[in-house]
Amino acid sequence: MQQRKKLVAGNWKMNGGLAANAALLDGVLAGLGAPACGVAACVPAPYLAQVQARVAGSALALGAQDVSAFASGAYTGEVSAGMLVDFGVAYAIVGHSERRQYHGETDATVAAKALAALDKGITPIVCVGETLAEREADQTVAVVSRQLAAVLTKLGDKAAAIVVAYEPVWAIGTGRTASPEQAQAVHAALRAQLAEAGEAAAMQPILYGGSMNAANAAQLLAQADIDGGLIGGASLKAADFLAIVAAAG
Ligand code: 13P
Repeated sequence: MQQRKKLVAGNWKMNGGLAANAALLDGVLAGLGAPACGVAACVPAPYLAQVQARVAGSALALGAQDVSAFASGAYTGEVSAGMLVDFGVAYAIVGHSERRQYHGETDATVAAKALAALDKGITPIVCVGETLAEREADQTVAVVSRQLAAVLTKLGDKAAAIVVAYEPVWAIGTGRTASPEQAQAVHAALRAQLAEAGEAAAMQPILYGGSMNAANAAQLLAQADIDGGLIGGASLKAADFLAIVAAAG
């Protein structure tokens, strides 16, 4: 039977600087070797060149944290997929809850960004997740299904090339993690939805994100439909990030 691919991606968010990045990458690359799963770092746009140069020849792939839905033009502050390609970017996070919450990104915007990335050969990591109020109102599966459906509808056949990340909003940066059972239940629903888009889509990784760390990663990653992680805070510490990568292998 074909194995699903696994991926552990760090999301550095708006953290770091030239010196801090160099030290973090030194630590990660010293211990990374030839990991059993895919590994990526999604870094702030100004540091793409720095990180591209440092990870060359290593198993660490380069990712961006966002991408414009547009190819070029009068979009001040935006970064296009074509620009990311110039720096060897393999992954772009789209629809992170912080973008949805603080930058008003809608399901339609997220879908357009996913398409813009794919059209340039960049794999979008499509984030979905419910707020605490939505979970308490038993709306979790309805919310994540709606978020994913917008992307799947827009992408059509190309949906077989996306990565999905389930990130419960209430678990992000809070130290509160979904229990392995809570996460697995949502991942299974997302898997079924991907399967409706085709067999190839169902084989794509579904990552868990939200306070995943060195201590809880193994339990989460042991779940049948959790194929990796999207790691915030713990990706800023080389030893913790490497421990998660090891747990995914
Ligand atoms: P934390 O791991 O810091 O909770 O962040 C998760 C996240 O938002 C990754 O994209």
